[in-house]
Amino acid sequence: MTKRSATLIIDGQPHIELPMHSGTLGHDVIDIGSLGDHNVFTYDPGFSATAACQSDITYIDGEKGVLLHRGYPIEVLAEKSDYLETCYLLFEGYLPTADQKADFEKTIRYHTMVNRSMEQFISGFRYDAHPMAMLCGLVGAMSSFYHDSLDITNQQHRTISAHRLIAKMPTMAAMCHKHFIGQPYIYPDNSLSYAENFLHMMFSTPCEDYPVHPALTRAMDRIFLLHADHEQNASTSTVRLAGSSGANPFACIAAGIAALWGPAHGGANEAVLNMLSEIGDEKNIPKFVLKAKDKNDPFRLMGFGHRVYKNHDPRATVMRESCNEVLTVLGLENDPLFKLAKKLEQFALEDDYFISKKLYPNVDFYSGIILKALGIPVEMFTGIFATGRTVGWVSHWNEMITNAYRIGRPRQLYTGPALRDFPPIEER
Ligand code: SDX
Repeated sequence: MTKRSATLIIDGQPHIELPMHSGTLGHDVIDIGSLGDHNVFTYDPGFSATAACQSDITYIDGEKGVLLHRGYPIEVLAEKSDYLETCYLLFEGYLPTADQKADFEKTIRYHTMVNRSMEQFISGFRYDAHPMAMLCGLVGAMSSFYHDSLDITNQQHRTISAHRLIAKMPTMAAMCHKHFIGQPYIYPDNSLSYAENFLHMMFSTPCEDYPVHPALTRAMDRIFLLHADHEQNASTSTVRLAGSSGANPFACIAAGIAALWGPAHGGANEAVLNMLSEIGDEKNIPKFVLKAKDKNDPFRLMGFGHRVYKNHDPRATVMRESCNEVLTVLGLENDPLFKLAKKLEQFALEDDYFISKKLYPNVDFYSGIILKALGIPVEMFTGIFATGRTVGWVSHWNEMITNAYRIGRPRQLYTGPALRDFPPIEER
């Protein structure tokens, strides 16, 4: 196949030939690695048009509203697969056989417990510490327990670290919740499925078990699945950048958790619920949509818009169906928040501003309503997003370390002062 290249002509000077590469799907890329030799950099602060890496894991077509995990559409996985099978697919690169799936589930169940000293660690937090603050600390601290598997050049170490992270995130997230409400920690029950176990650890008490309704378990599993991975989003890119320095996987995932916390990213699900509560009644929708459109007002419609999706977010569509199912099972069809959310979605999707800027509901718009209906407090929402996304983070980290990589070190457009003399203090 002929080698393609792009020609860059700067101020009419002799042109610069830049090689181009094509992937399986999506945009071609121009390799700008040699531009520094020509004393020029590219400039793309939000990475809107910059591919920072090559990856086989997930593909998004923002114009068509397509999301593929290792080639399988998210809608198909949500309907036919489950979270742990999707974890296997993301990390290993292929769907497991029945035996492989059983072995993987057994391995994950084997690692659900955390070291007892994690309980002392959590007890050091204020009673009302935000779960994401606690999760950042707990996951970072995991590297102090597993000295047997911190050699990142060893695939077995990378795999056991991935298994430990996938297995222990629900346990730690539930512990953060129990700390927040002042209840005893509930140990994992390995006779339960992944999502069942999480709801058990969240809502059981030593005095009585929490009977998990199958439809609610399915909804919880689907929420983890829909959050599993999403290409080079802000938190995944953070994990890759941290990993490029050779940091251990637990430190890298802790960095990803910190990046996810922001309301523009994973913190949006919590912000959606707070926004819906603030809107309160559908008669207030026009006022809030007007605020969202006002350039002088920092308010944005939380749960709307996306850097990549300029069409519907396929996860939001699945999430809305799941929301309907859960509310029906719980007899909450007339849940005021869900009704308000559907009214808000309808109003925004008919508004010229949102239409012209291609702003659609994203994964966070409906997830919070399901989580609230499941009885999960709003401060836990982003921690649940982090739990589901851990497999995506660790899969991208593993993919990077497995292939050739260099430490990430972006350049800049310097706009500060040129060289100047140091004035003595009496002359300042
Ligand atoms: C996630 O990257 C991922 O894949 C993330 C994620 C994942 O799975 O990892 O999908 C998860 O983070 C989903 C997004 C959750 N965040 C929110 O719901 C917060 C609200 N949304 C916005 O903050 C915003 O839409 C972002 C952050 C999601 C995207 O921001 P961009 O790509 O930088 O878009 P932008 O700010 O350049 O917006 C383009 C225009 C702007 O207007 P102009 O300056 O062109 O006049 O659209 C406007 C924005 O003001 N706009 C909004 C809006 N989102 C964008 N206006 C009102 N309400 C909004 N929600």
